[in-house]
Amino acid sequence: MASNPSDESELRSGRWFDPDSLRGFGHRSRLKGMGYDDQDYRGKPVVAILNTWSDLNTCHSHFPERVQEVKRGIWQMGGFPVEIPVMSLGEMMMKPTTMLYRNLLAMETEEALRCHPVDAAVLMGGCDKTVPAMIMGAISANLPAIFLPAGPMLKARWKDQTLGSGSDAWKYWDERRAGNLCDEAWGEIENCIARSAGTCMTMGTASTMSAIAESMGLTLPGASSVPAVISEHSRLAVATGRRAVELAQEKLCPSDLLTAESFDNAIVTSMAIGGSTNAIVHIIAMARRAGFDLTLERFDELSRTTPVLANIRPAGKFLMEDFFDAGGLCALLKQLGKHIQGNCRTVNGSTIAENIARAEVIDPDIIRSTEDPISPTGGTFVLRGNLSPSGCIIKPTAASPRLLEHTGPAVVFDTYAELKAKLNDPDSGINADSVLILRNAGPQGGPGFPEWGMLPIPDHLLKQGVRDLVRISDARMSGTSYGTCVLHVAPEAAVGGPLALVRNGDMIQLSIEQRRLNLLVDDQELAERRKSWSAPKPKYQRGYGAMFLKHVTQADAGCDFDFLHHGEDTPDPEIY
Ligand code: FES
Ligand code: MG
Repeated sequence: MASNPSDESELRSGRWFDPDSLRGFGHRSRLKGMGYDDQDYRGKPVVAILNTWSDLNTCHSHFPERVQEVKRGIWQMGGFPVEIPVMSLGEMMMKPTTMLYRNLLAMETEEALRCHPVDAAVLMGGCDKTVPAMIMGAISANLPAIFLPAGPMLKARWKDQTLGSGSDAWKYWDERRAGNLCDEAWGEIENCIARSAGTCMTMGTASTMSAIAESMGLTLPGASSVPAVISEHSRLAVATGRRAVELAQEKLCPSDLLTAESFDNAIVTSMAIGGSTNAIVHIIAMARRAGFDLTLERFDELSRTTPVLANIRPAGKFLMEDFFDAGGLCALLKQLGKHIQGNCRTVNGSTIAENIARAEVIDPDIIRSTEDPISPTGGTFVLRGNLSPSGCIIKPTAASPRLLEHTGPAVVFDTYAELKAKLNDPDSGINADSVLILRNAGPQGGPGFPEWGMLPIPDHLLKQGVRDLVRISDARMSGTSYGTCVLHVAPEAAVGGPLALVRNGDMIQLSIEQRRLNLLVDDQELAERRKSWSAPKPKYQRGYGAMFLKHVTQADAGCDFDFLHHGEDTPDPEIY
């Protein structure tokens, strides 16, 4: 079939395929070399499927099947699907931390969309950082885009117990260290805790960020909790592909959908699901890409008024499969009523209010009402005080009631290696009142802001029955973690934040009621200590790591690179 190079189209991809030029000829002839005729693609919306699959992303192992289903939807609606692999960021295997690479995937997403003949995109992600990374990139590229969440794993069973990813691994690991679990039982848990493809099926970062993507209007309604391996997930993939073609025709871009209210909805949703503490960093980063200068104050305000309604681990009892069966996110958003701004537009063309109008709560123990919440106020609190002038956070629903108002002596570790070496030293003096501190574990210090914030409890305390201590760090923690962990202390120690000045035995005061974190050492003494402080040597001297250290912002600013914030539009490439 011969091309008619003079065909004009309104599509962005037409700039590649329409011109009667040597370049146009090159683009068309090479697609023909791949076996495509004009009928396959000429004048059709080109939908890029950005796929974060890899053999080492354990959560996305169903993506090879799903990508075919997305393509089916795109063909059905007269689009032309093209799959573009992008960095997979599998949380379990990547070291030192996927957070080191979130911004790299965001850059890759943005540039992959901009440099190719693309009219719309399906973003296939799910495992933790893939969600914010792809959304950050899509916001900056500002081409029509829809997110397809990987979906959670099926829930796991061991004997008569239901096991949740992460949360139950930490729990039984502590029981094993306490001498309560034999090797054989531990082996059985290893065999059954990850039961299928999909993301962690607790309300970890993956489920939290997917719910947030839905609350921002970037997925089809109800998409965020569909389990990865049920037939409905396949049908969701096909429907997402279909809708992407319409998005290209409607030219509905992230900038048409995302408003300050969309980000309020993201915050309220993260609080109401008892979501991962990581959400705060990611929501700030996404908002700043969209031109909204979100600060921790907004999280503090909304956390004071938003009840926790999802009874999901680690804040509650159930797992994501139960949440889906109980009505999923649409039902939860409906329960939130006035807390959600229903007039926000979403990627299916309707408003949030329209999308949730028919949602129902099937199990009121799993998705609570505002009259019967898991907790009357938000899942994550913002704390301030002289130990964290730019703020830090805690998830009180995952903390121990006895420690919510606590003053105790600091035991300080400068590095994770030091913590590992000294934690179980019987002479460490660590007791149930101690406040464990890990510093130099933030965005610069880690580097890369690792998930080290749930510091382990020493063996001798586990054997005494102690399961929680106040723990403070400039690190993050996994969304599946729990405990009285104060996280994201900013400014971090590696840039000279007050955390760098703490010494063993200093008294630390934590008050959740007053949302305060104070180091009870006077200013004059701290000024003296500062004179002898010097910044640790940067770990990376070359390559991506060096770029990361030069440009990453602090936790309260979202840890994006300073040069990626919203600003002047980046021009589309010229085609000569
Ligand atoms: Fe991928 Fe938890 S490891 S979502
Ligand atoms: Mg995680």
